[in-house]
Amino acid sequence: MATLEIRDLHVTVEADNATKEILKGVDLTVKQGETHAIMGPNGSGKSTLAYSLAGHPKYTITGGTVTLDGEDVLEMSVDERARAGLFLAMQYPVEVPGVSVSNFLRTSATAIRGEAPKLRTWVKEVKEAMERLNMDPSFAERNVNEGFSGGEKKRHEILQLELLKPKVAILDETDSGLDVDALRVVSEGVNRVRETGEVGTLLITHYTRILRYIKPDQVHVFSGGRIVESGGAELADKLENEGYEAYTKGGASA
Ligand SMILES: Nc1ncnc2c1ncn2[C@@H]1O[C@H](COP(=O)(O)OP(=O)(O)OP(=O)(O)O)[C@@H](O)[C@H]1O
Ligand SMILES: [Mg+2]
Repeated sequence: MATLEIRDLHVTVEADNATKEILKGVDLTVKQGETHAIMGPNGSGKSTLAYSLAGHPKYTITGGTVTLDGEDVLEMSVDERARAGLFLAMQYPVEVPGVSVSNFLRTSATAIRGEAPKLRTWVKEVKEAMERLNMDPSFAERNVNEGFSGGEKKRHEILQLELLKPKVAILDETDSGLDVDALRVVSEGVNRVRETGEVGTLLITHYTRILRYIKPDQVHVFSGGRIVESGGAELADKLENEGYEAYTKGGASA
């Protein structure tokens, strides 16, 4: 079983000619087959964690380690991370003009599987995955994220997730801006990959409503650049009722 292990991760970013430490010692272990939710106030560093794991050049790792299956993720290029089995769905997905969804998916699958998927089976695979996500077939010919609505972008991410079958998937606010039907469709997609037992999921979210569809094994509270509390699914309900005040008002020296 593959394990993503984050140990004492420190990350800085350059802003206004100053170096700002955003992540201040993140510790987290996600195993294949497990589902973890990260919740926390705006600006606490959740997306920074996702970007740092993705290898975004803006974020400088100043301390700590990240390993997948014992392999040093921080030493890997962005491509190597994907090939090793890391999948990251960003809070604000970028447009890729001139590249169709269909080509994008096939190129990604080729990079990850080490060989191009056979065209006939691939077309069928994509078509079926799109049907499961209630996506119109014409979508495959559109340019990646270009003019996609918020909900379409998120469905496209889940389409990638289902087709690329990573070992660990990090989903940054995949639920934000979804209507109730889309939320259900997206959640079902996440649950399908989960049921394979082969994908570990790290779900960054502000809303407990997605956790009604996707039951996390663990919930983590993120505050001030690190995880300050972890618990079971019931922790999400507590956060919904009580907010983050207890974690942001000094007393968070966990
Ligand atoms: N590239 C950057 N340049 C400057 N500041 C940044 C950069 N990336 C992150 N930050 C700062 O780091 C802090 C954490 O941001 P981050 O986006 O990680 O928070 P978040 O927990 O994802 O918040 P939200 O819940 O609003 O999505 C913020 O103060 C943000 O302004
Ligand atoms: Mg964020």
